[in-house]
Amino acid sequence: MDLCVIGCGYVGLVTGACLAEAGHDVICTDVDSARIAQLNAGQVPIYEHHLDDVLKSARAAGKISYTDDAGDAIRRSEAIFICVGTPPKENGQADLSAIDNVARQIATEALSPKLVIEKSTVPARTGLELRRALNAYSRNSAVTFRVVSNPEFLREGTAVEDFLHPDRIVVGVEDETSAAQMREIYRPILEQKFSCPVHNGACPATADVPLLVTTINSAELIKHASNSFLALKISYANVLADLCEKIGADVNEVTNAMGLDPRIGGQFLQAGLGFGGFCFPKDLQAFVHLAGTVGVDFDILKAAERVNKQRIDRFLEKVHQALWVIKGKRVALLGLAFKANTDDTRFSPALEVAQRLVNEGADVHATDPEAVSRAKAVLPQVTYHEDVYDTLRDAEAALICTDWDEFRNIDWQKAGSLMARRLVIDGRGLCDLQRMRELDFEYFSFGREQLRAHATAR
Ligand SMILES: NC(=O)c1ccc[n+]([C@@H]2O[C@H](COP(=O)([O-])OP(=O)(O)OC[C@H]3O[C@@H](n4cnc5c(N)ncnc54)[C@H](O)[C@@H]3O)[C@@H](O)[C@H]2O)c1
Repeated sequence: MDLCVIGCGYVGLVTGACLAEAGHDVICTDVDSARIAQLNAGQVPIYEHHLDDVLKSARAAGKISYTDDAGDAIRRSEAIFICVGTPPKENGQADLSAIDNVARQIATEALSPKLVIEKSTVPARTGLELRRALNAYSRNSAVTFRVVSNPEFLREGTAVEDFLHPDRIVVGVEDETSAAQMREIYRPILEQKFSCPVHNGACPATADVPLLVTTINSAELIKHASNSFLALKISYANVLADLCEKIGADVNEVTNAMGLDPRIGGQFLQAGLGFGGFCFPKDLQAFVHLAGTVGVDFDILKAAERVNKQRIDRFLEKVHQALWVIKGKRVALLGLAFKANTDDTRFSPALEVAQRLVNEGADVHATDPEAVSRAKAVLPQVTYHEDVYDTLRDAEAALICTDWDEFRNIDWQKAGSLMARRLVIDGRGLCDLQRMRELDFEYFSFGREQLRAHATAR
């Protein structure tokens, strides 16, 4: 089927690449013509595992192309995936102006019926508004639009795998024809018939992928409800960590045991600096806002958001307690991306930590395996390094802000010999306590024993 993807960001590129890999002809478009030029030159503007390979092979097979002529892309396709950003406004409400712009473009450019698929994360009732907008903007009464909500559940870092091997595909529709068309689009994925770039053709046997057909409102709600629930779980683990610190328990021991209960599950129970990125913070806010507009007080989510905002304060309290005066001190910041395996720094707790340290006059040296160039653009006051040990050299403290394996595997003996002071403040709980004790480090993390200077034989 001829498909169009509007918005070539994380979601758009993964959607386009994977649907092309699954055999469809995909044309991608974006308002950012520099991004389109980059893609046409064979460069991938974001870091996402396997994405380069999939885009390369789809391009070589003639299954994917890029254009900044959105009208042409719209006219040439039967189904259009809207993958534009839906950032938060000041009041937490989702800013849907990009969706509205795209609706106007589709309505005015289309010359034949279109299936318009909302893949961006949007509040419930947006699909119904989108249909209204498409009809209102259309100048051609012979052109009809069917709207589908198809929320995306991929995780940055494992996005290609998540798209090709999903837990579930949700399609919110208004009629059976739309559901049948969506089933057709996803057939190769439902039947797991594609050449898998992640497992090189040896994909693990999995249960059938369920395709859940719902109403549009339910589909939209499923996405916000899922992300908000996961955010809630993280904040729960973080409050638990604070309690463990006061009581003298170890949060990892507690959450590991909790996670073995299948009713709870072990994921999203890692205590630390809290969640960031382009999804959880804004989706949580938008969900609270939506509930408020219909008179439902989602207090429990407001608490999750408040807890999350306080994590950075808590982390900086630990930094202050350990370093006393911050001004003029050289600190090594390990991690800039909001989580491991992505270059995405949007709403990254690491960047906020860096900014606040810079504001206090610290000499911040930072590294990240993939996110340095994005961080440089917003925080030029920081000194960036490629190598983690160069970052740690002469530092009075190492602050771990992102859960990259590269930081989990640091040789702390070597690091200790380079640092001005053996002090680690670990916002992601990556270091082994026993090892840090043996190496005579002062070591602070969330919800575990704190190794203070006076407790070590220095
Ligand atoms: N990033 C994720 O992990 C993730 C996961 C699931 C869902 N989502 C949702 O998907 C949506 C997109 O997220 P993203 O991370 O890919 O965003 P992004 O910012 O990486 O990409 C959005 C792209 O849309 C383009 N764009 C904006 N307005 C446009 C317009 N009028 N016409 C054409 N292109 C336009 C931008 O130039 C940009 O390239 C958001 O609603 C997000 O909440 C994101």
